[in-house]
Amino acid sequence: MFSKHLSTALVSLATISSVYGAVAPKRRATCAGGQSVANEACCAWFPVLEDIVPNLFDNECGDDAHGALRLSFHDAVGFSRSSGMGGGADGSIITFQDAELQFPANAGLDDPIDAETPFIAKHNVTPGDFIQFAAAVSLSLCPGAPKVGFMMGRPNPTTPSPAPDGLVPEPFDSVDKILARMADAGGFSPTDVVALLASHSVAGADTIDPTIPGTPFDSTPSVFDTQLFIEVQLRGTLFPGSQPGQGEVMSAVAGEMRLQSDALIARDPATNCAWQSFAGDLPAVQSAFAKAFNVMSVIGHNPDDLIDCSDVIPGAPPLPVNAAAHLPAGQTQNDIEQACAVSAFPTFTAQPGPATTVPAIPQS
Ligand code: HEM
Repeated sequence: MFSKHLSTALVSLATISSVYGAVAPKRRATCAGGQSVANEACCAWFPVLEDIVPNLFDNECGDDAHGALRLSFHDAVGFSRSSGMGGGADGSIITFQDAELQFPANAGLDDPIDAETPFIAKHNVTPGDFIQFAAAVSLSLCPGAPKVGFMMGRPNPTTPSPAPDGLVPEPFDSVDKILARMADAGGFSPTDVVALLASHSVAGADTIDPTIPGTPFDSTPSVFDTQLFIEVQLRGTLFPGSQPGQGEVMSAVAGEMRLQSDALIARDPATNCAWQSFAGDLPAVQSAFAKAFNVMSVIGHNPDDLIDCSDVIPGAPPLPVNAAAHLPAGQTQNDIEQACAVSAFPTFTAQPGPATTVPAIPQS
C-alpha cells in the first residue's frame, strides 16, 4: 500500500517535473554558455534569448518588440478574480487564437502571434512562458526600460476553453471601467495602471486607423522614456489620419496618435496626479512599471509553482545622454492641460526648430 502511494507520488512528481522543468528549487548552476543562474532549469532559456533577439526582434525596439509587449498584456489580462473566468498569463491567446483573435480588443495581435509561434515550436516551451519571456526580452532592447523579471513554468492552458470576450480594456472604455477591470484582473491600483501605461512609450497603433499603421503614441517610440506622460497632457489639436478611429482623440503632435483611454487617465481625478508624477521622472516610472509588470506576468498562477529565471533577462541600455524629457518643438508650457489639483505639472523646455512631426514606426 505504502509503496503503491509512493510510486504514484513519484510518477506525479516526474510528470510535474516534465511540465514545469523542475519543482524543487535547484542549486545555483553554471550554464553551457558560462552564465551563472540561481536555478539550473533557467539555463534552457539562454538559447531562446540568443535566438529571439536577432531573429524575432532584429536587435531593436521596433515593431516586433512592441507587439510582443502588447501580447503579454492581452494574454495576462484575460482573467477575472471575481468570476474565476480566464486563465491569465497562460498562453491561451495563442492556444485558442481562433477564438481570442475574434475579440475586437485583440485586433492586430495576429502579427506578434504569427511571429512568435515558430520560436515556441522550435524551443519546445509553453506559449504562456514564451509570451512573458519575449515581452521581458523585448523591453531589454528599449533604451531606458527597466529590467523586469521572468518566471518559468506556466503549463499549457488548463482552462478548457479560451478566455471570454470583454476582459481586455478597450481605448473607448471609461476610466472607471478600465480601473475596475485592472483591479479584477490583477489587483492593480490606479497608480499601477498608470505605471503599466508606460508601455505606450514604446508603442503605436496599427488598427485604430488602419490607413496609417505604426502611428506612435509618443514622439520617441523606440526608447522607454517619460515623453508619453508629457505629450498626452498637451492640448489636442489634430488627428494624424484623415479621420479619427474608434477610441482615438486629438493629439498635439503631427504623426502621433492619442488613445482616448490614455487621454482620460491623464486627466481623471483618480489617476491624474500619478500620471503627472511620472512626467520627467524616469526612475519612478521604471520602478513602478517593473513592479506592476512582474505582477501582470504571473496573473492566474501561484508564483510558488514557478521558477524565478529573472537572471536570464538582460538589462536595457540607458537612455542616450541627450534624451532629456522635453516638450516637442512648437509646444509651450501653456499647452499643458493641468489636471492634477494638488501640484503643478513639471516645467519642460521645448526642443528647438520647427514643430515636431513624428514618423511612423517601420512595420516588420
Ligand atoms: C489598460 C488599458 C489599455 C488600453 C485601453 C490599451 C489599448 C491599446 C490600443 C488600442 C493599442 C493600439 C492597438 C493597435 O491598433 O495596433 C495599444 C497598443 C499597445 N499597447 Fe496598450 N492598452 C492598455 C494597456 C496596455 C498595457 C498594460 C500594456 C503592456 C504592459 C500595453 C502595451 C501596448 C503596446 C506595447 C502597444 C503597441 C503595440 C504595437 O505597436 O504593435 N498596453 N494599446
